[in-house]
Parts: sequence; structure tokens; C-alpha cells
Amino acid sequence: MKLVPGPASMELANKVSSILGLRLMELEYKTFPDGESYFRYVSSVENEDVVIFQGTHPPQDKHLLQLCLLSSGAKDLGARSVVAVVPYLAYAKQDRRFKEGEVVSIDVVLNILKQSGVDKILTVNIHAPWIINRSPIPIENLDAVGTLTSYILQINLKNPIILAPGKKGEDMSAAAAKVLNADYGVIRTKRDINTGAVEVSLEDINVNDRDVIVIDDMISTGGTMVKSVNTLKSAGARRIFVGCVHAVMINNADKKILSSGADAIVATDTVPNNYAFVSIAGLLAERLRKL
Ligand code: R5P
Repeated sequence: MKLVPGPASMELANKVSSILGLRLMELEYKTFPDGESYFRYVSSVENEDVVIFQGTHPPQDKHLLQLCLLSSGAKDLGARSVVAVVPYLAYAKQDRRFKEGEVVSIDVVLNILKQSGVDKILTVNIHAPWIINRSPIPIENLDAVGTLTSYILQINLKNPIILAPGKKGEDMSAAAAKVLNADYGVIRTKRDINTGAVEVSLEDINVNDRDVIVIDDMISTGGTMVKSVNTLKSAGARRIFVGCVHAVMINNADKKILSSGADAIVATDTVPNNYAFVSIAGLLAERLRKL
């Protein structure tokens, strides 16, 4: 197995390679003055099973194309197989036509990756797990919620409750609550398909004077989390800890969340970010060891 550090996920590739005790392949990479990417495999990939680490967090399109170049290039040079480790898989939010005429982006992206020679995708907490069944490439989806929540065990919590927003909220909060041995529930969300604005409600969950941990698979603009924190504060929450797997954090989302009253943010390193106190390198290494 040859491990290839794509430019989007070099640090993570490094961590996984040290856990596995495997050296990373040497890859020559540069960006031309006009912004185009250049790659050269310095040693042979012929007949090798190649594992390319390349997340597709922002700038998504660039990172996606780099993954296509690396995968296609490896196959062109005779690689036997390509596994793409894509800790954050972009475009999974557009998993259907919400409005007539929309492009179902994730299907297009998966087809492009297939055409580029990717044989398997190893990802983490994919935004729309239901696309796995219709994907043209096998997708393995690792769950980092347990690892993320274990970190929160260090905090001395008072009468804690774990909440998670949205459709996957129940599964996510239940998984986290198991680790913390706490109550759990769902924050109901409703997103306007035209403006993207989100409404949240707690329904009959009582958070008064309790420590609340809000877990989400991702924070992008921070809109959902800011609304959640505001609602929890108004409902009398004592302290609010925010945990997410993918800290995409567009437009100072983190600062908005903290200034709305969250006490701390904890994230994993699927996307390079300032709150990556938890690494998914161990999860990835364990899975790759079995491949
Ligand atoms: C929704 O299904 C997700 O779990 C997140 O809540 C959402 O993607 C977060 O987006 P934003 O930070 O832009 O509100």
C-alpha cells in the first residue's frame, strides 16, 4: 500500500502514516502562476494499491480536481487500485433536486471520481449517508462522533444533555449520549430552500440550568449553531459546548458561535481548523490496516 499526501490533507496523511509506520510517497506538487496544479509521482506506483489523502473542503472545486488529477495520474502510471481518503466529502448537501431543474451535484461528483479511477472512497460522517446506496463507487463512511464525544468526557459537566440538530440529530445525539452516559434529544430544524435561512426549535426539551452539548456533523456558515445556541441560552442552559466533525467554518462562523454564548468549540481534523482537538487519524489508520 502506498500512501499519497494530497495537498488538502497533508497533515492528516502524516499522522496516519506515523500510526501505520508507513512512509508517505514523495509527491512533487506546485501551483503554476495561473493557479493550475501540477503533480509528479517521484517514485513508481506501478502495480501498487494507492491510497490518496485529499479532503474536499474549501476550496472544494480545486481540491476535487486535485483528487481527480492524482487518481487519474496514478492509474495512468499503472496503479492497481486507488482508494481516496476524503475526510470531508463536498457537494453531499445537494443530494437531490429540492427545486425543479436543480443539478444533483453529489451524483455528478461521484461519477467524475469514478471516471478518474477512484475505486473506493473512505470518508467520515458523510452529510447524506443515504447516497451511499446509489453511489457508482463503493463508499465507506466512518463515524467520528464517538471519538469527538470522548474528548468532552474531560469536562466536568452538570446534569448534561446532548442535543443534535436536523434529520440525523437523533442518531448523532444518541451515539454521543452513550459515551457520556447522558440524556439526549433533537433540535428541530427547518431550512428555507430559497434563502438557506434555518429555524430551530427545542419543542419540549428542558435545558434549564443544565450543561448542553450540541453536536453536529458539520458547521458551515454557523447559522444553525448560532440559532441553536441562542435558543438554548433563552431556554436557560447553563453552559453550552459545541462539537462538530467537520469544522468548515465559513465567514467567521466560529467567532459568531462563540459570541452568541457558546463556551467552547471542539472539532475533529477532517478539515484543517483551529478547534481540531480530536484527530480522526486513528480511525482512518485502523480501517486502512484492514484493507
Ligand atoms: C444539516 O443537515 C447539518 O447537519 C448542519 O446543521 C448544517 O449543514 C450546518 O450548516 P450551517 O453551519 O451553514 O448552518
